[in-house]
Amino acid sequence: MTLLSITDLNLSLGGKTLVEEVSLTIAPGETLGLVGESGSGKSMTARAVIGLTPPGARLRGSIQFGGEEILGLRGKALRALRARKVAMIFQDPRAHINPVRGIGDFLTEAMIANLGMTARAAAARAVQLMKEVGIADGERRMRQYPHELSGGLLQRVMIASVLAVEPELILADEPTTALDVTTQSEVMAILDEARRERGTAMLLITHDLELAAATCDRLAVMYAGRIVERYTDTPRHPYTIGLLRSRPELFDRPERLHVIPGRPVAAFEADEGCAFAPRCPHSGPVCLGARPPLADDVACVRVEELA
Ligand SMILES: Nc1ncnc2c1ncn2[C@@H]1O[C@H](COP(=O)(O)OP(=O)(O)O)[C@@H](O)[C@H]1O
Ligand SMILES: [Mg+2]
Repeated sequence: MTLLSITDLNLSLGGKTLVEEVSLTIAPGETLGLVGESGSGKSMTARAVIGLTPPGARLRGSIQFGGEEILGLRGKALRALRARKVAMIFQDPRAHINPVRGIGDFLTEAMIANLGMTARAAAARAVQLMKEVGIADGERRMRQYPHELSGGLLQRVMIASVLAVEPELILADEPTTALDVTTQSEVMAILDEARRERGTAMLLITHDLELAAATCDRLAVMYAGRIVERYTDTPRHPYTIGLLRSRPELFDRPERLHVIPGRPVAAFEADEGCAFAPRCPHSGPVCLGARPPLADDVACVRVEELA
């Protein structure tokens, strides 16, 4: 049984390919980690699910939710999907919460509009949800404005707003990246607990493979607009192994070491052959012909040799 099923998703914008042949599935209650460096197409993939791609984006492929095609939904059908089924948490809550409206309005509007709750019932529920995400003085917060709250508090408010509509799937796009390190782990723990208690499925997008591995049931790794590996326990793709080696504690240093030389590329910037080849310690002539297919969940033609 799958809840979300993305098949051969392609996305281009202004003639530039940003996402290429992405396929992934999420079962009800499951957490899938979508991992990769900046620019690999993680956000575009998630945004395609709820029709939030930039104007002019061209999409091909299929996205099914509960067995129904949702790619290209518009108007009422798209609003219905976002109202009850799929909700998104963004990296920067401040950019996604209207600054001139109070926290109370932000938290209660979806409950009133989508769940048909009275304003009074929605307000009570909002305070209760805030408590669940670690905001003890919810009544006071309801009367405040976004600029009066720290980034960490505002992200908790965003999580509360997502929990309010009881979605079946949460798309969490770098939900803790903009927060300081202590707040990061608190917010992640709150999100994870809320999801577990409700049995909500989640797509957790992050550049932090360690965080994803600690939180997720399965992982999908993206590079240059493609999924290069899907795995549960043991990665095999040289890119994934490179990401794992950049774990900071191995080096006893606070900042992440960039042990993968070079810089990541977007899909349209990649040459023929394996997009990771220019940075890969194991690349050879065999890697340069065509894009390696995602055979047996690893897109690397040398994976057998390297094992
Ligand atoms: N609004 C946009 N217009 C044009 N290109 C974009 C836009 N947003 C993102 N991109 C490009 O699309 C590619 C994938 O971006 P994105 O999905 O945001 O990557 P990620 O979330 O993995 O960092 C990047 O090359 C990025 O520069
Ligand atoms: Mg992103």
